[in-house]
Amino acid sequence: MQRITITIDDDLLELIDKISDQRGYASRSETLRDLVRDAVTREQTAVNDATECYATLTYVYEHETRDLSRRLTTTQHHHHDLSVSTLHVHIDGHDCLEVSVLKGAVEEVKSFADSVITQRGVRFGNLHIIPSEHAPDDHG
Ligand code: NI
Repeated sequence: MQRITITIDDDLLELIDKISDQRGYASRSETLRDLVRDAVTREQTAVNDATECYATLTYVYEHETRDLSRRLTTTQHHHHDLSVSTLHVHIDGHDCLEVSVLKGAVEEVKSFADSVITQRGVRFGNLHIIPSEHAPDDHG
């Protein structure tokens, strides 16, 4: 690890300290490392769509919206090669929360996520991409 010195606006530092407190980070350095790592990961995956990745797709949907549950399930089946596992939580009488773990090329994972997130009745859609450091079958 290396030690660097950076110059930062007071306002921005205040926000970083606030995030640090809220999330319970032990230090500013740890907070900044995580924030920078997130940003760098986003940049990397943005430029290299061919990269293999794992990803989590999170969204909330109204199960009563006409046909939506069926359409979402159909979408998942059409991309069964990307889908590793899906967690379903009944939040209340109307809403369901789903977290899907995906695996595949970043480009395909993004396209699948878009096809889910853009459906009417789907809210809080978010895709978190984790680039694979090893080939998919290099596990062991
Ligand atoms: Ni449900």
